[in-house]
Amino acid sequence: MDTLDEIKDFLGCETPDSWIAAALNNQDLLLIDHAHCEKKAASTAMTLMFRYVDRTDLLNKMSRLAREELIHFEQVLAIMEARGIRYDHLSPARYAGGLRAEVRTHEPGRLVDVLIVGAFIEARSCERFAKLAPFLDDELAKFYRSLLKSEGRHYQDYLGLARDASGEPIDARIETFRRIENELILSADEEFRFHSGAPAAA
Ligand SMILES: [Fe+2]
Ligand SMILES: [Fe+2]
Repeated sequence: MDTLDEIKDFLGCETPDSWIAAALNNQDLLLIDHAHCEKKAASTAMTLMFRYVDRTDLLNKMSRLAREELIHFEQVLAIMEARGIRYDHLSPARYAGGLRAEVRTHEPGRLVDVLIVGAFIEARSCERFAKLAPFLDDELAKFYRSLLKSEGRHYQDYLGLARDASGEPIDARIETFRRIENELILSADEEFRFHSGAPAAA
């Protein structure tokens, strides 16, 4: 089973075709939100590095991940610049907040849950890049396919760190977050974003 199959299996539901159609009709917004996502991914990794200074494996993996996300950020910015798309603030998607609301408040539960959420965000990004690529222009398709590999590894890093941080099996926690994630992806969403749900009927 290759990584993309493993990721689809982990996610448990596919991005709706209606979201793909909305993305193709909102490519400027897609890129602007994508830029925010890369920056946020780097920031989340660095927050973990500040909070868990005694976990060497986590520090190394998150440091590398943060650097890679910042490179992705620069790559998205360059494409936006070339296309004359102006970078701007956006209201955050409901997605990450919806997942984080389930994170436990005590340790090590908090760390385990934040890492599982990270695995879902990376896995969903990977699945969306793969599903979008065949419909995009050559430049964007090539870029999104190039991101698949690193985001796939980020998913594996987050999941491995979550298993290591927990003293017990984490399958039940993964299932809890999977239910929430699938609801956020499949239910109607008023706002289009990189991680938004099915577009609400106009
Ligand atoms: Fe990235
Ligand atoms: Fe990533």
